[in-house]
Amino acid sequence: MRNLVLGIESSCDETAAAVVEDGCRILSSIVASQVEVHAPYGGIVPELASRRHLEAITPVIGRALKTAGVGLADLSAVAVTVGPGLVGSLLVGVSAAKAIAYCRQLSLIAVNHLEGHIAAARLENPLVYPAVALVVSGGHTHLYLLPAECEYRLLGRTRDDAAGEAFDKVAKLLGLGYPGGPVIEREAALGNGKAIAFPRAEVSDGGLDFSFSGLKTAVVHYLKGYGAAPRSAELPSPKTIRDVAASFQEAAVDMLVARIMRAAREAGIHRLLVAGGVACNGALRRALAREAEAEGFILTIPSPALCTDNAAMIAAAGAVRYARGERAGWDLNAVASLPLA
Ligand code: KG4
Ligand code: ZN
Repeated sequence: MRNLVLGIESSCDETAAAVVEDGCRILSSIVASQVEVHAPYGGIVPELASRRHLEAITPVIGRALKTAGVGLADLSAVAVTVGPGLVGSLLVGVSAAKAIAYCRQLSLIAVNHLEGHIAAARLENPLVYPAVALVVSGGHTHLYLLPAECEYRLLGRTRDDAAGEAFDKVAKLLGLGYPGGPVIEREAALGNGKAIAFPRAEVSDGGLDFSFSGLKTAVVHYLKGYGAAPRSAELPSPKTIRDVAASFQEAAVDMLVARIMRAAREAGIHRLLVAGGVACNGALRRALAREAEAEGFILTIPSPALCTDNAAMIAAAGAVRYARGERAGWDLNAVASLPLA
């Protein structure tokens, strides 16, 4: 019998559904982005996000099934993101998954969004343990030790902003729009990353936590030195924008790379996994590849389309939990701040 899992993801500003076979073959992956809804506000508006999820969820699930060429009767399980995320957004996906699973008497599987980001790697290569994983996205910057399948130990996390949040905020300061990561990367490619010596924060206790708010504040101070309030009429010159973007990106990449390399060295582990939206960043991917090769570490980063939010990663994570016999009850609920470890 075919093992088909329908994945549903609605934790933030993407409504997504996917069908994955045997936990690793993507038969379909549909992502409906809400970027145009939130762009005028320069960030996600939670109430608008949940309303848009409500409109999009049924058609997106329908398209995922149609593209995969399967019906609900062919499915083994429905896997859904239960947290962390925006609670109103999560509830839309959780309610849809419960309704489908209940009506068709399918297994319901609860998936942590961060485990989903890590499981994205399974869709391209089997995961090998132990490994050190960095999940770096708009809401999360977490370092985990992965001793074995479905086991997570938190090694470090951001004490303030997530890395993606810092990209988004700096893009806003530079008048580059939302979401910030891709535009900062584009501008940075044209600028000089050595132009401005932005700080690389280390936590004072020598631990593996991250801090990005100091870097963001340094960008604010630098721009104020130019007399450039973040109003379009007074934006810095195109050259300054490019140099700030490049220098900020270089500092952020340095911090992320240094921390995961140190975590792996200290844990005596030579397998690295990096996932989440910020892992799309070409400068980060290149720096990680360079450092990993220099130390003889094996590095896995999913393809960019699997790094940003999608439901194939949720189905992949759900398939593992399904195979282990885990099932959620009909009282399943969304949990905004669900920890992975
Ligand atoms: O994983 P994701 O799609 O959603 C969350 O779970 O948060 O990550 C979105 C984040 C945003 O902050 C976005 O600016 C960032 O990933 N991002 C990037 C790039 N593409 C997306 N950051 C840096 N460089 C990129 N190319
Ligand atoms: Zn995410």
